[in-house]
This record gives sequence, structure tokens and C-alpha cells, in this order.
Amino acid sequence: MKATLKNSLLTAATLPAIASAACISSGNQATIQNALQSGGNGAVVQLCPGAVIQITDQISFTADNQEISTQGYPTDSSRGTIQVAPGSSASTLIYGKNFNNIRIKNLQLEGNRGGAGLFPGGAANIEIGGFTTGQTVSNVASRNPRGWSCLHAIGSGDNNNPCKNVTIVNNDIGPCGQSGTDANGNGQWADGISLDCTASLVQGNTINGPTDGGIVIFGSPGSTITGNTIISSPDYVGFGAINMVDGEYDGSYAGVSVTNNNIQGQKLFNLGIGIGANVWSFGDPPPPLKGPATVSGNTISGHVSFPIAINGWSNGLTVCFSQFACCAHEWSANVFCRSPETLCRVFPLPTPASLMPPSAALPSRAFSTRTQTSSTTLLDSLEPRTSSPDLSLPPATPPTSCARPSHFPTRSPSMLDR
Ligand SMILES: *[C@@H]1O[C@H](CO)[C@@H](O)[C@H](O)[C@H]1NC(C)=O
Repeated sequence: MKATLKNSLLTAATLPAIASAACISSGNQATIQNALQSGGNGAVVQLCPGAVIQITDQISFTADNQEISTQGYPTDSSRGTIQVAPGSSASTLIYGKNFNNIRIKNLQLEGNRGGAGLFPGGAANIEIGGFTTGQTVSNVASRNPRGWSCLHAIGSGDNNNPCKNVTIVNNDIGPCGQSGTDANGNGQWADGISLDCTASLVQGNTINGPTDGGIVIFGSPGSTITGNTIISSPDYVGFGAINMVDGEYDGSYAGVSVTNNNIQGQKLFNLGIGIGANVWSFGDPPPPLKGPATVSGNTISGHVSFPIAINGWSNGLTVCFSQFACCAHEWSANVFCRSPETLCRVFPLPTPASLMPPSAALPSRAFSTRTQTSSTTLLDSLEPRTSSPDLSLPPATPPTSCARPSHFPTRSPSMLDR
């Protein structure tokens, strides 16, 4: 088994052409691990198209600028597959913490929860981040993690030297986890993408079947989350599609932008976009989380209990409701179903309103289906009464597939915006 090795210290003239170099067609984790180890800084280790590598332990990057990918960079089912073997003690497939500019590209990562089982306390399929900059995960399928996430970019834990500039683009993620607990009481849910790094980009990913958060933003100041599609499982409940509810970086979401994402509830998302410390559970972390942040242009459709819920936030939030697909099954008292208006509201919120008494808090991170009416109540209550909404943006295109049921009473904007 020969690995494709490229040393970035060589001059360009001496580099082998990647396409003609050997790729890995069989072996196990040691095959890939040895290639990384011997290649050192800048090693490019490639699987052959169609290769399936079973592993019983994680594969770890060993130096900066390394890459694991499939030769020729296919984006379809011919991407090389790395799969956790049944009976394995591995939960993470690829571990790349604390190395700069590493790349995971054009691979399929199968956590094999079905065959290898849930791993209580196990880590994500992909674990990157730490004291790093410039890491990339692109065109990677990551599914069925034994642990709590399909892809985790962890923070460094040092706000003066944070994880920076992770690029997570064009991946197909999921399914991730299941609903409920197993016979021993272990939570079975898992995130799609868990981002805890600053100035990072999460773009163009499809997350199909997350059961905890689809994209969980742990503060991650300066990061952009745009153009992703997040679809709940047809079989399992997803807690939230996009979460801005966890406090890292002292609660700062400064400069975070969540735009033009497409959220679709199949069985159910409890939350479309959750914003603030009192949304997931009450005061966890201690409120408020902090902006300024922007949430705009996102489309939310299907079965989503709270399309956007905001509570426990300070220091600025711009939320634009643009072209929400109708909640065709539920026209009851939900302002977010008022397509086709485009409506922007800027919240320099007053002191975060304690609108939910602690007794109404959602228990820990696991909450069950709740009724649909509360998000209207929350939002209307948070609106500054003295300013009128900014309606200056052009109206969005009306959705075509979402006729207002005849029994639903016409509501005027003045009723909603009072
Ligand atoms: C972020 O990382 C990418 C590589 O993934 C690099 O091309 C880009 O220049 C980096 N940006 C900054 C600001 O360092």
C-alpha cells in the first residue's frame, strides 16, 4: 500500500502530479496513519476512488498542511470511504486538532452507529479545531456518528488565541443520531455541524437528519453561516436546525451572520433558529448572549415548532424575515407564516426580558414538542414598542405552494405590529 505523499517544502518543479501518484485502495487506519507520519508537513494522503477502509482506531493528522482526500476529488459515491469497524473502540474517524491548514476533502466518513453501536461519551466523526487557523473540510460526507456530532470544530479554550478561520463547505452531513435515549438512558441525539471557532465559514452544506442541532454555533464571533440546507429526519425529531444558544467566548456572537439558509422540517424541528441564552433552557449559559449578529434571508418550511425564537440576548440583533415558506399545516397565530412580506427588525433589546419563568424552561438540552403559539408571544413581547419595523426592503416573492386556508382569518399588519 503506497500513499500519495507531497511535501510542501519541495519546490513546485519536484512535486509529483497528484493524479498520477499512487492512492490507497486497501488497508486500515494504520495505512493512512503511516502515510501521514512519514509524509510529515504538507503530506497529501489520498484514497483511491471507491476504496473502503475499515478502521478500529482514529486517524490523526501529524503535522501542519496535511490533507486526506480521494484522488481526483470526486464528489459522488465514488469518494473513498472510511468506516468504523464493528467491535471497534473508535468513535472519531479523523482527528485534526491543533494543526494549521489541514484539509479533509472529498471523502465519505461512516461512523457506523448501526453496526458498531452508540458510543456514550464518544466524540464526533470529525474532530478539528483547537489552537489553529486555516483548516478545511469540504465535499465530505459524514454520517451515523457513534458520538454526539457528525463534525466538530472545537475552540482552543483561550480567547486570546482562539481557533480561527475554519472553512466547512459543500459537505453532505447526516443522518446524525436518533431520538430519545437508549435502554441505559444515554441520549442518542447528535449534531450535524458543531462550530466553536472564530472567523469561520460554514457554507453550502446539506445537513440531512440531525437530531440535536443541525448547525450549532458556539459563539464563534465573526463567523458566517450561509447557504446551508438543513432538513430534519423523516423518522426522528431534530431539536434545532440552527442554534445560537450556547455560550463560549464570554457569550459573544459579535459579527456572526446567519443568512440564506434553508430549513425544512420533515418529522419535526422543535426550533428553526434559536437565538439567546433562554431559548434552549433558561439561563444556560447565564444570560444574555451578545451580538451584534445578523439573521436574515433564511427560509423555514414544513414542521417547525418555533421558526425563530429569541430570548436572552443583548447588544444587538438584526433579524429579517424574508420569504418564509408558509407553515401550511399550521396557520394559527404565527407571524412567521405571513409570507410574502419581508420584514426586518433590529433589536437593541432592552434588558433581556424574562418572559419564561424558570418553571417553563426546557429541561437541559432535551425538550419535547411544544405548542406553536409561543414564538409569536416571545417576539412581540421583545419588540421595542416605540419603533416601527423597517419595511424598506422589497417584498419577497410569494411562495406558490402555500395557499392560505379559507378558514384562517385575514390579519392586517397593524394587528401584528401593534
Ligand atoms: C482562511 O483559510 C483559507 C484556507 O482554508 C485561506 O485560503 C484563507 O486565506 C484564510 N483566510 C485568512 C483571513 O487567513
